[in-house]
Amino acid sequence: MKEYGLYINGGWVKASSGKTFESKNPANGETLAIFSEGTREDVVKAIEVARKTFPKWRGFPPPKRGEILLRAAAIMRQRKDELGVLVTQEMGKVIAEGKGDVQEAIDFLEYIAGEGRRLLGETTPSELPDKICFTLRQPIGVVGCITPWNFPTAVPCWKLGAALISGNTIVYKPATLTPFCAARLVEILEEAGLPPGVLNMVTGPASIVGEEIVQNPLIRAVSFTGSVEAGVDIYSKASRMLKRVGLELGGKNPQIIMQDANLELAVEGVLFGAFGTAGQRCTATSRLIVQEKVYGEVKERLLSRTQAREVGDPLDPKVDVGPLASKEQEEKVLKYIAIGKEEGANLLYGGMKLPGGKYDRGFFSAPTIFEARHGMRITKEEIFGPVLSLMKVKDFEEAISVANDVPYGLSSSIYTSNVNLAFRAMQNLEAGVTYINAPTIGAEVHLPFGGVKNTGNGTREAGTEAIHEFTEVKSVFVDYSGRLQKAQITE
Ligand code: UN1
Repeated sequence: MKEYGLYINGGWVKASSGKTFESKNPANGETLAIFSEGTREDVVKAIEVARKTFPKWRGFPPPKRGEILLRAAAIMRQRKDELGVLVTQEMGKVIAEGKGDVQEAIDFLEYIAGEGRRLLGETTPSELPDKICFTLRQPIGVVGCITPWNFPTAVPCWKLGAALISGNTIVYKPATLTPFCAARLVEILEEAGLPPGVLNMVTGPASIVGEEIVQNPLIRAVSFTGSVEAGVDIYSKASRMLKRVGLELGGKNPQIIMQDANLELAVEGVLFGAFGTAGQRCTATSRLIVQEKVYGEVKERLLSRTQAREVGDPLDPKVDVGPLASKEQEEKVLKYIAIGKEEGANLLYGGMKLPGGKYDRGFFSAPTIFEARHGMRITKEEIFGPVLSLMKVKDFEEAISVANDVPYGLSSSIYTSNVNLAFRAMQNLEAGVTYINAPTIGAEVHLPFGGVKNTGNGTREAGTEAIHEFTEVKSVFVDYSGRLQKAQITE
């Protein structure tokens, strides 16, 4: 059995606790590898190394940093199948999506590598003669990256890639459910030529490793993807030290279907959006808002298509829905199914842990559809599982108002053939991402990603915005007049 230590200063070292934990396959309970349980002292060591390495990495030309990221992307391309299988084994998403996770990691590394030749600032004239002004993007210093288990290669690459190209050094804490994908990623970056000490990984519990990353004053920025509860905790603690914080938190993403939509396409979309990754995406569709005239037809099509979904071994290419990622996740999903029933939502399909046979050893839960009334808890709270609330609305105005009446605003979608409604939806849906005639999932890496309201704190990942999360901006004034010129002094 492979055993990994912590990755500090370019080498694998044992945790000072001497304790270990296992990464297990959620489809069958098998142990995949063993990892070290880092302590606060281990994090402090990692921070110290990152701090010492910072001046050197900061001076390393950004295009050269980009070359390393491109080499890492090339290695990942070569090993895409093997890495995709690992994502599926460790996290449970079906194999096509496991490879998709890796593809998204590759896409982002390739994209952000090019930023090494941009890192654009502004150039602008001065109010004084013989003087010019411009801005520079500079690294922040030592940054902490805390990543989730649902995209165990893509989301870490968003954060690590953007932090690295910007010239920061890193202490990285991957989710305790998916340390194997994280360790492979670190190995690949090392193989691609990342110098020792630039990236340091400490595995272990959030309450110890994450806490030290957030509380240690030498870490100047924290980038976190996860629950609202954890995000609020991080934001409030880090704000006391005026740290930069980037948050990607929950979602309660709606798909609207208007009566003029292509219904077949719309139903295909919601199946992918709601049950892809077993609903464990921040962008997953958890509410289907349908105009009353086509409600009956959508319901019928949705039911028959959902019945045909195959749940099972995520490595089997014929399977549509894999297991939930953990026991905890399974409990949460089952809890919300019970809540839905209690509050009188009409269970149309699923609503249970799948029993017996091939499901015995994993966390398999049936794709679930409730007919619900807007305002029920299942229509407002994030479930992070394959549970969809179907709701009827009168018209476009009601659809938008229901869609917006939740505390989150990450992704959103509308299916319509009416161009006016499509543009009104683009303007009025309260979300960081809006899709027209496409599901709520599947954002591409060269556009900003993030949300409004409780989904985050206004930062965005991916796209050129990613650079803003990990850089400081400096304004530079160059006076080549050869005399003292005084801005603003008029007499
Ligand atoms: C997430 O669920 O945290 O848009 C990220 C999507 C993916 C990223 C999801 N590209 O569904």
